[in-house]
Amino acid sequence: MIDLRSDTVTRPTPGMLKAMFAAEVGDDVFGDDPTVNELEAKVAKMFGMEAALFCASGTMANQIAIKAHTQPGDEVICHKLSHVYYYEGGGIAMNSGASVCLLEGDGGRITAADVAAHINPPNDPHRPLTKLVSVENTMNKGGGSIYDFNELTAIGKVCHENDLKYHLDGARLFNALVETAETTADYGSLFDSISICISKGLGAPVGSVLIGNMAFINKARRIRKVFGGGMRQAGYLAAACIYALDNHVGRLHDDHKKAKHLESLLQSLPYIESVMPVQTNLVFFTLKPEMPADIFLGNLKANDIHALALSPQQIRFVTHLDITDDMMVGIENVLRKMQ
Ligand SMILES: Cc1ncc(COP(=O)(O)O)c(C=O)c1O
Repeated sequence: MIDLRSDTVTRPTPGMLKAMFAAEVGDDVFGDDPTVNELEAKVAKMFGMEAALFCASGTMANQIAIKAHTQPGDEVICHKLSHVYYYEGGGIAMNSGASVCLLEGDGGRITAADVAAHINPPNDPHRPLTKLVSVENTMNKGGGSIYDFNELTAIGKVCHENDLKYHLDGARLFNALVETAETTADYGSLFDSISICISKGLGAPVGSVLIGNMAFINKARRIRKVFGGGMRQAGYLAAACIYALDNHVGRLHDDHKKAKHLESLLQSLPYIESVMPVQTNLVFFTLKPEMPADIFLGNLKANDIHALALSPQQIRFVTHLDITDDMMVGIENVLRKMQ
């Protein structure tokens, strides 16, 4: 089976499984799991931030951050297609009782000017109190687009000047980092909180980490418990995450190269209307009306290739650790035969 649906479908490699089996574990809710503690310390240090918290998923890490930064009735500014709003089941409303201000923006990216223009006057009781700005890098619904770090810095300045917290959904931050000049420490110095996913391109079976200062992480730990996210011998999972951070970051380039190859191949096919610019491992494209998504996906499925339809004409391919060079040849042959 060739699975292009998501980079979350990867299976642990033999090396990762070995690290998991060898993990020393304890009860993490008591703070006793040495491998979870090691992962949290490692990630906090990487980003130059004070502390980190191991979470079961990217959604959980983002939702904990939003709850820790806001009170019911406060407002969160984010792009209208951001994962925290669009794909987390209404969690901002359900978990935090917060309001949202949804911005437009190229490739799913917002700008400092637009953020500044949408901060509600704090003394006007009619308007929700703006408290938090959340950005996503890379931006999933923006086609895996990468933010310009100067723009992120400018947004940070607006947050600072207006006493707003600044959160990064960095589920695929490492995909951005391998393509740009910035470091984890640059990001750590800019944001109040960052969530990273290790179960996507980095290939761990489970696991995200939320990073921030000590007071924020203490609060986040309490919220994680309330959300039912206190895991016990979670060190087996943390070991996979440590292994992924040590072994799978550099190779993200390969996924990006494969995605670029798919981009140019798709551009040459007569049944493709358009392909969003590919910067990382996500390939979003639109089919011409004569090739509806269900027919296209059915053709792929007949060849044991699986992908996702995002609308009746839009498809997403995602390259990842388990997509081999041989599979790429197979995908290319099937796509070419379909015309
Ligand atoms: C940008 C982004 N943030 C957060 C998440 C949530 O991660 P999880 O599926 O682990 O909840 C995803 C998942 O695809 C994502 O793409």
